[in-house]
Amino acid sequence: MCIGLEFSGWWLILVIGCLVVKSAYWRIWRLAQAPYLSFTYYSSPKMPKIYSTEPEDGEQFTEQYDAFYARFASAYDWLVKVFPVWRNWLDTTLPWIQGPRVLEASFGTGYLLTQYADQFEAHGIDLNPNLARVARDNLQHCSLTAHIQVANVESLPYAAAAFDSVISTMAFTAYPDGKRALAEISRVLKPGGRIVMLDINYPHNGNKIGTLLTRGWKAGGDIIRDLPDLFERIGYEFTDREVGGFGSVHLYIATKPEQKGIF
Ligand SMILES: C[S@@+](CC[C@H](N)C(=O)[O-])C[C@H]1O[C@@H](n2cnc3c(N)ncnc32)[C@H](O)[C@@H]1O
Repeated sequence: MCIGLEFSGWWLILVIGCLVVKSAYWRIWRLAQAPYLSFTYYSSPKMPKIYSTEPEDGEQFTEQYDAFYARFASAYDWLVKVFPVWRNWLDTTLPWIQGPRVLEASFGTGYLLTQYADQFEAHGIDLNPNLARVARDNLQHCSLTAHIQVANVESLPYAAAAFDSVISTMAFTAYPDGKRALAEISRVLKPGGRIVMLDINYPHNGNKIGTLLTRGWKAGGDIIRDLPDLFERIGYEFTDREVGGFGSVHLYIATKPEQKGIF
């Protein structure tokens, strides 16, 4: 009797144990089936590309953006130096730069300048004087020279057709008037010259992580534009490669035609 009771008790524990394990198993299984844990969820082209509209007050937009960089110039320099991801993205532009005369629009802390200034006649502009100072220090630290100055991309202080390449990395989303900035970049570029542009756009396959990252930039105030459409409208031949950020970081190599574009 005593043995029988103990025996039944063990079976009860075993049955309850099985039910608990089964329930846990089904919970884990269902969790594993959740769409956000599967690869197809992120690779399925479901999320729409929502582009920004140009800001109504371009000057105010630029003032706010510039105030941010004026304040965080040193921190930004530190971030670029410490975290390799940003530098890796910027480095993807290097094989595409053609010389001899190169302009970098919005060089920021000057990281990229320090990577190619020894190979080309390097010129650069940036709107923010604090960043320009940091870039000068970085160039000096590497014993490199580049002709850099403070200027607005919308009004470049150079003659027409002066450069073989114009580089712009992670900066086009900071310009309040995309057409105007592109027209000005195009003006200073020689026919047959290259725009080497690294910037944010939606992933080609619409994957959700890349799309959400792009939307995150947009929510943070960056102007996300349909860059291929802009290049097509000025009659440039271009390639569009995804180089990081789950397809949200794009490298555009666009060649200026011999004939003038529409703007
Ligand atoms: C995100 S940072 C990118 C800097 C650098 N190219 C890089 O990839 O690290 C954007 C840069 O654009 C510059 N910028 C913003 N508006 C500009 C304008 N209208 N003309 C020239 N530079 C501008 C800022 O001062 C800043 O250096």
